[in-house]
Amino acid sequence: MISIESGIVFGPELCGCIHKLNPSHVFIVTDSVVGPLYGPKLKNSLSCLGCPVHILEFPAGDVHKTRATKEYLEDQMLQKSAGRDTCIIALGGGVVLDVAGYLASTYCRGVPLIMVPTSLLAMNDASIGGKNAVNTPYGKNLIGTTYLPQATFCDLDFLETLPLEELKNGFVEMIKHAIILDADFFAFLQTNAKALLNLDMSKLAYAVQKSCELKMLVVRTDTYEEGLRRILNFGHTVGHAIELKSEYRVSHGRAVASGIIVEAAYAVRKGYLQPMVLEQIKALFSSFGIETMACDGFSEKDLYECMCMDKKALKHRPRVVIIKEIGQVESFDGAFCTEYDVLEMGIL
Ligand SMILES: NC(=O)c1ccc[n+]([C@@H]2O[C@H](COP(=O)([O-])OP(=O)(O)OC[C@H]3O[C@@H](n4cnc5c(N)ncnc54)[C@H](O)[C@@H]3O)[C@@H](O)[C@H]2O)c1
Ligand SMILES: [Zn+2]
Repeated sequence: MISIESGIVFGPELCGCIHKLNPSHVFIVTDSVVGPLYGPKLKNSLSCLGCPVHILEFPAGDVHKTRATKEYLEDQMLQKSAGRDTCIIALGGGVVLDVAGYLASTYCRGVPLIMVPTSLLAMNDASIGGKNAVNTPYGKNLIGTTYLPQATFCDLDFLETLPLEELKNGFVEMIKHAIILDADFFAFLQTNAKALLNLDMSKLAYAVQKSCELKMLVVRTDTYEEGLRRILNFGHTVGHAIELKSEYRVSHGRAVASGIIVEAAYAVRKGYLQPMVLEQIKALFSSFGIETMACDGFSEKDLYECMCMDKKALKHRPRVVIIKEIGQVESFDGAFCTEYDVLEMGIL
């Protein structure tokens, strides 16, 4: 169940949903930025549950999306004697959702998870589809599980405190969903970039809803990424390599935007995509004020080595998703990605 509305998190809906699970303990897992902003307010709104509600915080940032953080959180829960009748609420951006999702999926072999995404990226992407993961020094998102939450509460009011650069990161994944799946949505984003950046709530609600629906359509067809779900990785083969090589100084959104341009340019060079479409994509990023040159400063060799560790890689050779036009990807007989030819890497 996913609810997208303003003002739903601190009202009776979330508390009612957890009440049905009848937990002995509730843990709000959050980070050091979102925790102080919303943790106590959420805890207060859950007082009706009549069970202990704990706030567990870890330092914000992708650099802390690690096995060590998960272990720290597990120890905190174990010290409180939390058993299988525990409920975890993930309150935060994509990093928190990924860590808390992985934690919930393995704690006592799985406890109920409620997602409360607070960044735009988490609302329209990370909260959908049940994937979670942590990073390792060898690559991003390499250790994790697929584990669906009981419910997701997507409250647009959180966006009021989200820094502009983080808001833009959320639009990157939205633009990605439009590029791979829906030309009409791409046109909507072209027309409404300014209103969306200015937090026009009715347009934003439509855009988040649409983006979630597009992702859900794919995830329902291929939950365990045996084929079609790979298209959601468009821009990520190169994007993840940029994140890793920059030691996460380049944000996920900006790295993926740059990855989308590099991978779309590759599709042009291979003759799948008209150059004009690449220009349209660049123009859309630019109208959202999103820079796409994050790969500058890295050598091709460095990025290629990281791309080989990507989860889509086959026999240590990286693969990319190829778009044919806005809203359409090449199927490659159901593989939905193809090998990235190292000799063609001129653009990096
Ligand atoms: N599991 C998935 O399907 C999936 C999909 C996409 C991305 N991801 C992962 O998500 C992560 C990126 O997510 P992100 O961009 O949300 O990053 P993030 O979680 O690091 O959040 C960005 C920053 O914004 C802060 N923040 C979040 N909500 C806020 C709010 N309402 N007000 C003020 N500050 C707020 C956070 O504390 C953080 O400092 C990456 O690790 C990526 O791999 C996962
Ligand atoms: Zn992403």
